[in-house]
Amino acid sequence: MKKIFFLLAIIIVAITAQSFYQTNPQNESIKNGKSIYATYCITCHMENGMGLESAFPPLVKTGNLNDKNKLVKIILQGMKGPITVKGVPYNVEMAAINISDKETVDVINYIRNSWGNKAPLMKYSEMALAKKDMVK
Ligand code: HEC
Repeated sequence: MKKIFFLLAIIIVAITAQSFYQTNPQNESIKNGKSIYATYCITCHMENGMGLESAFPPLVKTGNLNDKNKLVKIILQGMKGPITVKGVPYNVEMAAINISDKETVDVINYIRNSWGNKAPLMKYSEMALAKKDMVK
């Protein structure tokens, strides 16, 4: 009987340790993304992700955040032309942001998991495909 409890304890410890190691790199990416956001995005999209009405769109619970490849394109190539976000029109150009592939993934993971946004983490390995998709 004791043996079973001992075994059970080991299994529980193993599962806990495994989930810790699985979530840890995620937190790392989001954490890095936060400082990238603070450097490259915060001036326009603001600390709370709400942007500035009619000038810079919010990044909180908006449609484009669901599409990782589109986000890569927006960040690395910039964006212009009229868009409507949450019923408010925007037509100011966002210049391309010059950051590395890893920084791009980290900042995407940050914005997709902040301010009430919740999305699965993008993997670094997904960048290659996203960039292929990006060709105009
Ligand atoms: C100089 C100001 C500025 C900076 C810096 C900036 N953006 Fe933008 N961003 C804009 C503007 C303006 C638009 C809307 C462009 C348009 O009207 O077509 C936009 C649009 C977006 C969109 C699309 C929103 C939607 O719902 O379609 C995303 C996502 C985005 N920016 C993310 C970022 C990220 C991430 C960074 C930092 C890596 C960043 N932006 C840096 C000004 C900026």
